[in-house]
Amino acid sequence: MLAACGDSEAPTAPPPPTEPPFPPPAPEPPDVAPFFKDTAPFIEHGNSLEARLEDMPGVITPNELFFVRNNGGSLGIRASDWKLVIEGDAVENPVELSYDEIRALPPQDLTAYLECAGNHRAMFDRVQGRPAEGTQWGTGAIGNGVWRGARLADVLELAGITGAAASVLLIGLDSEAPEGGFRRALPAEKALDDVLLAYELNGEPLPQDHGFPARALVPGWVGSSSIKWLGRIEVSSEPHWTRNNTGSYVLIGGSYPPEGRAMGQIATVQTIKSALALPWPAELGPGPHTLHGFAQSPEGRIDRVEWSDDGGATWNDARLTGVQTELSWRRFEFEWEPAPGSHTVMTRATDVTGATQPESVPWNRKGYLFNQPLPHPVRVGR
Ligand code: MTE
Repeated sequence: MLAACGDSEAPTAPPPPTEPPFPPPAPEPPDVAPFFKDTAPFIEHGNSLEARLEDMPGVITPNELFFVRNNGGSLGIRASDWKLVIEGDAVENPVELSYDEIRALPPQDLTAYLECAGNHRAMFDRVQGRPAEGTQWGTGAIGNGVWRGARLADVLELAGITGAAASVLLIGLDSEAPEGGFRRALPAEKALDDVLLAYELNGEPLPQDHGFPARALVPGWVGSSSIKWLGRIEVSSEPHWTRNNTGSYVLIGGSYPPEGRAMGQIATVQTIKSALALPWPAELGPGPHTLHGFAQSPEGRIDRVEWSDDGGATWNDARLTGVQTELSWRRFEFEWEPAPGSHTVMTRATDVTGATQPESVPWNRKGYLFNQPLPHPVRVGR
């Protein structure tokens, strides 16, 4: 007899195998591009874009004119695909935080400049006649912006950073950059002091070239510390020694005694500088002219900028214009009445601590932290 459909005597079908939970779609690998922004306003150096100070309208650098320094390519990451992992032997509670969780932390605004350790590197060649290795930046490896983000200290607190923490390693997601993710270690005291996990620049979401969804902004320190496209933070009870504090971002040369496992003095805090907002060399029509430029110091506000057009024999005070917050650019200007012909104009900044630009900077192999007054060549027409 044929069993009727649903007949209780019908042989029972084996229960369906329990399905594993449907795996969520894997996040798309980030897009990589040399740059996302229009490169036309910049001087291009391979994978980096140098800004032209003469195009800067004021002390805040518009996002589209902000310099870019990439050790790999720029990443296009969707906020929804992004997470920040915090782990290491000096956290009690390793965590993964989403973009929304970072944005939910108390926001903090900071107006600060960001400057590559190699800004002014070309001057070792142009001024001292001894070239240094690396991208030949003139004066435009710098920008000054209003950053908004969470305090790195609040983020590390969520992971239960312990008193044993000595070093905080910030690791980028740019896997094609050296070390499979550009990285830089900070002493725990600095990481817990004033470092920002920035997600906005000048009131806009952080542009992709500058590290969207979130980057570190390490005030006063060389730009390589401010890791973009931040993906992982390792908090350790031991110092981290990686490429970027042993051989790269290290001042190597007779005047720079080695520190720890580094080949020289590790580039950490930036140096006081000033520069004219003019092309190098500059060509001007017949005078008089009002020249202007920008000055900055990692130690605090700029107190004075002087200028000289006689090789530093005499110095005149420039006017400081506009307001300045602690780590922001200061704009300066002065009237100049040159005769037609070739001139050299120098500027020299001093900050509120009395620190000023030195007469000469000892050469170092990778050309970091050149901050002696720049003898800017200016030709004045008839
Ligand atoms: N972060 C990542 N992930 N990858 C990089 O190549 N370059 C560093 C730093 N952070 C870099 C990075 C360097 S050397 C500098 S000077 C600054 O980013 C430049 O920041 P910007 O491109 O936003 O101007």
